[in-house]
Amino acid sequence: MRAEKLFDLTGQIAIVTGAASGLGLAIAEVLAENGAHVALFDINTEGVAALAARLKGEGLSAEEAVVDVSDLSALRSAVDAVASRHGRLDIVIANAGISGGPNVRTDAGAIENVGDELWNRVLHINLTSVFATIQASARHMKAQRSGRIVAIASIAGLRGDPMTGYAYASSKGGVANLVRQASWELAPYNVLVNGIAPGPFRTNIAGGRIREPEVEKAFADTVPLGRIAEVEEIKGLALLLSAPCSSFMTGAVIPIDGGTTAI
Ligand SMILES: NC(=O)c1ccc[n+]([C@@H]2O[C@H](COP(=O)([O-])OP(=O)(O)OC[C@H]3O[C@@H](n4cnc5c(N)ncnc54)[C@H](O)[C@@H]3O)[C@@H](O)[C@H]2O)c1
Repeated sequence: MRAEKLFDLTGQIAIVTGAASGLGLAIAEVLAENGAHVALFDINTEGVAALAARLKGEGLSAEEAVVDVSDLSALRSAVDAVASRHGRLDIVIANAGISGGPNVRTDAGAIENVGDELWNRVLHINLTSVFATIQASARHMKAQRSGRIVAIASIAGLRGDPMTGYAYASSKGGVANLVRQASWELAPYNVLVNGIAPGPFRTNIAGGRIREPEVEKAFADTVPLGRIAEVEEIKGLALLLSAPCSSFMTGAVIPIDGGTTAI
């Protein structure tokens, strides 16, 4: 079979949360570039509008919606609106997330200094909202007996991670096991649920701190390939997990980390 067929998303309806920046933006692009109609969800009004306009200008298919994933009922309504407008829902990328404050090697990140507000906010956006995204999507996918869900976890959710804080690592560990749990329940309905666990990527997370030279170097020093990743480098794995070629993959949480979790 030719590669184009294995990765062809023509006619598929997709949602990407957190699509205005970074990994979500790159994933939205690759889904649209391979034939999907992509609904772009983000709190960044101008960002999603600009991306939708650019994709449509390139002859691709997209729509935007201003959705705050932390507002669970608004999130569920927005997912339902896409499914009802198009009569189906094929691919959902639960990507929106935030950084979790200082890492555990700093005084501010020490366990006695982790405030309830930070903990609750990070767990709510990074884990509870991902659960609500999967829950809202699964309802439509179970009924149509097909679907792909991809959640963006982190290598910080696969093992202890000195580069991040308690709340972030805990939220991402939760996402990784949420993927595995959902894969069991949804497999009989032909709804496949997988996770991506990125290492450090050059995005706008934490206000783009990772792009400051000393922060970038600190992250790069943890990576066997000796560098952080460019956002475009997420596209191949995201497309693979959304496309016909991965039809026997579910419950996997795949690191894309330049080798970091191999040691
Ligand atoms: N950049 C990395 O190194 C890295 C590593 C591992 C995992 N991740 C994960 O990748 C995902 C994407 O992050 P990124 O690095 O691309 O960051 P980013 O800040 O560049 O993009 C995140 C996007 O999510 C949106 N967003 C944030 N809160 C939202 C909310 N409540 N509702 C709707 N949209 C919201 C932002 O507006 C932004 O457009 C996150 O889940 C993050 O934890 C990133």
